[in-house]
Amino acid sequence: MRCLNCISLFFFLLLFQSAYAQRENVISEESKVPEYQLPDILTRFKGGKVKSEKVWVKKQRPEILKLFTNEVYGKVPGNLDLSEVKIWETSDQALDGLAKRRQLSLFFKKDNHNLEVNVLIYLPQTNKKVPVFLAYNFTGNHAVFNDPNIRLTESWVANNPSVGIINNQVTEQSRATASDRWPVDEIIKAGYGLVTVYYGDVDPDKNDFSDGIHPFFYKDNQNKPAYDEWGSISAWAWGLSRVLDYLEKDPQVDSEKVAVLGHSRLGKAALWAGATDTRFAMVISNESGCGGAALSRRRFGETVQIINTSFPHWFCDNFLKYNGNEDILPVDQHMLLALVAPRPLYVASAEGDKWADPRGEFLSAKYASAVYELLGVEGLPVKEMPAINQPVMGTIGYHIRSGKHDLTLYDWQQYLKFADKFFK
Ligand code: GCU
Repeated sequence: MRCLNCISLFFFLLLFQSAYAQRENVISEESKVPEYQLPDILTRFKGGKVKSEKVWVKKQRPEILKLFTNEVYGKVPGNLDLSEVKIWETSDQALDGLAKRRQLSLFFKKDNHNLEVNVLIYLPQTNKKVPVFLAYNFTGNHAVFNDPNIRLTESWVANNPSVGIINNQVTEQSRATASDRWPVDEIIKAGYGLVTVYYGDVDPDKNDFSDGIHPFFYKDNQNKPAYDEWGSISAWAWGLSRVLDYLEKDPQVDSEKVAVLGHSRLGKAALWAGATDTRFAMVISNESGCGGAALSRRRFGETVQIINTSFPHWFCDNFLKYNGNEDILPVDQHMLLALVAPRPLYVASAEGDKWADPRGEFLSAKYASAVYELLGVEGLPVKEMPAINQPVMGTIGYHIRSGKHDLTLYDWQQYLKFADKFFK
């Protein structure tokens, strides 16, 4: 017994040491960024230049999309439509009469699998169809806004006693605990709707492929996705598309004006949703960092190896090949951003969020601009990184704000301005 304890202590120390060593090597100064060469976005993989919109749309874009699918995020193994929609409640008296609130569940069924995805919608008080922001939240719809009518999620949520999440279940104490990130009043007053969903309804964020949407598609004896099949980011992106399927049928939503938005890991999912589903009319990445908007080859802050080690379930297993070996990646993240072209795209960074590599996020947006220009629209309107709190908005928008890793009112104010530019 004692010996067993010694052995576990030994392995614990070994693990701790390797995690520590990994962090020790994190690049946090620009001068330490290694030399790298990005794949040129307008050079065909078999050689030759992409010179026309037609070649981009018919050849280059599909090839890039396929590489991201097979090597990074993983493919969705099949089709599954919505089985049923249940409307829980509607009210015209939300936000003291300023807004309408709707709560509904989307049900997915296959064989003996069932999944319920809860959707919370706030819409301005009008009978016209309105543009909306569609965004996942981190801990449940009830956390987004101070409104006692919002149903508490019954899904598994990562423990956090400081916001009343105990035994992986939320409590009354969890209400409105993320409301700083969701300026619902401002969104509504600007004439937009907000559609939000707890991301864990689609796939709980843990390294466990027995729950969420993944098992719906397993073949006999399969218990995790194959090496080129979807990780969690791809599953979350899939979920965003299924919510959009519903929104297309909602008479009060202008489904041709849906901006998909996400913060951090959910920004990675929003980008992948925007890349795979061109029905999203606008894509907003808030500090999505590694595996999101930031260039992998810079290895600044979080790297491919670190992310694959800390979050082994986020990407497909093929992505492991690039641990410490970013230069052999056939793509880099500027190419992911280019998959959104010519649709409006906003990339946001924060000064205090070095982990997500703000400069790498900016450069990615800058290099994606070549595709926007090929398609006849302006990409980023600047060549140099703008100063702190100086947003720039072409068809690609960018800002780096002061402060830490977060989704703030300042960020939303820029997204509302950006949306006005294209949706109003
Ligand atoms: C971690 C992770 C990031 C991720 C972030 C988040 O910091 O390393 O890649 O974006 O969590 O989602 O909050």
